[in-house]
Amino acid sequence: MEERKGKRIIMFPLPFPGHFNPMIQLAGIFHHRGFSVTILHTSFNLPDPSLHPHFTFRTIPHNKEGEEEEDPLSKSKTSSMDLVALIRLLKQSYAEPFRQSLAAEVGGEETVCCLVSDAIWGKNTEVAAEEIGVGRMVLRTGGAASFCAFAAFPLLKDKGYLPIQDSRLEELVTELPPLKIKDLPVIETNEPEELYGIVNDMVEGAKISSGIIWNTFEDLERLSLMDCSSKLQVPFFHIGPFHKHNDDLPPKTKSKEDYEITDWLNKQDSQSVVYASFGSLAAIEETEFLEIAWGLINSERPFLWVVRPRFVRGTEWLESLPCGFIENIGHKGKFVKWVNQLEVLAHPAVGAFWTHCGWNSTLESICEGVPMICTPCFTDQHVNARYIVDVWQVGMVLERSNMNRKEIEKVVRSVMMDKGDGLRERCLKLKERADVCLSKDGSSSKCLDELVSHVLSFDS
Ligand code: UDX
Repeated sequence: MEERKGKRIIMFPLPFPGHFNPMIQLAGIFHHRGFSVTILHTSFNLPDPSLHPHFTFRTIPHNKEGEEEEDPLSKSKTSSMDLVALIRLLKQSYAEPFRQSLAAEVGGEETVCCLVSDAIWGKNTEVAAEEIGVGRMVLRTGGAASFCAFAAFPLLKDKGYLPIQDSRLEELVTELPPLKIKDLPVIETNEPEELYGIVNDMVEGAKISSGIIWNTFEDLERLSLMDCSSKLQVPFFHIGPFHKHNDDLPPKTKSKEDYEITDWLNKQDSQSVVYASFGSLAAIEETEFLEIAWGLINSERPFLWVVRPRFVRGTEWLESLPCGFIENIGHKGKFVKWVNQLEVLAHPAVGAFWTHCGWNSTLESICEGVPMICTPCFTDQHVNARYIVDVWQVGMVLERSNMNRKEIEKVVRSVMMDKGDGLRERCLKLKERADVCLSKDGSSSKCLDELVSHVLSFDS
């Protein structure tokens, strides 16, 4: 590790695992380069700081309307909230407290080199950083292709692609090939104008930043990165995949459940297991849950399935499975509430990843050479799925609208037998490209050197 005494970076993640994980990985990368890191984290979804002992954590309290009212960000209020409404509420509630918390960070013994904020926090964070004379970079936790689509929202609205009309789902978006209208990164919401506002603020906030840090790599998204770069005109640092930097870090402490999962995987044949997980935010209906369960059973492949508590709407966990279902599957299937996904994907028993195509999951699968079954649910996941299936050709699609047990059985069998015609081989090639980009003279390593110089140039 390099010593860079007295240089501190402040980070402000969006408080969801799909955003926090890459931010904390980036913190690790900076720490490895000798910087100190302070994480300003919302009181909402506060992680356990003891799991990240290298970093200083500061909790940002949020604005409440009045002391007597129920907290609008309490678990009971937010658990059923539309994601767009929740993000809007987070942005409103934390804007001023963030500004104050950030201001309190300057003037200490260490020089604050810059702020790195999640792109979704938008322009407010730029204003707050400007006020105290600190440069701001943004972290984009998603891929470049989806960002190009977000940046095109005004055009897509002008041309009538947005809002999406059900009668035009299969039409190609000629301005964003190979995306079809159904792949545009929207989300089902009661407040479509709010969604456009959040996306616009993210894109405009990125344009006025001092640079964008991407969790992607050049050999995966060269064209999309070029496209974004020409539109945004700010310095770009594509240094991903973040989680593959610093292989020398000590292994994370394992829980009893982690050991049980590893034991179960150790008993399975090589490349025989279907690992299914739909990220940290998506939720499904009970009927979909049952179709997935029967489809997996009927495919006759062992499966490891992450079912988060309340992932199935209206239920706590697995209670909607028919009586005796779990006992009958015995060791052929395993339901868990959460796993160490990086470890699971790296296990030789895993043959395919049935995923919602969140960007982290997509990169993590590619980095282990594991082909994917793609069931995107919302926003960037649709774009990622299109690239996985049509551009990189390392997965097969299983659309949510077509998710019945027969189709599931068919797709699972096809991917596991690699009827997708070389899916695994192509995925292993992409894994190699990621390794090349991360190697000493690879594009991600060079970009990281440039990023470090860029950050150090702020206070000179
Ligand atoms: C969200 C969006 O849905 C996604 O599209 C966007 O790109 C980032 O924010 P999420 O839905 O949680 O993320 O998906 P994903 O990006 O895949 O991130 C999930 C993270 O949680 C991954 O890093 C994954 O390794 C981790 N995870 C998930 C676990 O460690 N264990 C699990 O059981 C499930």
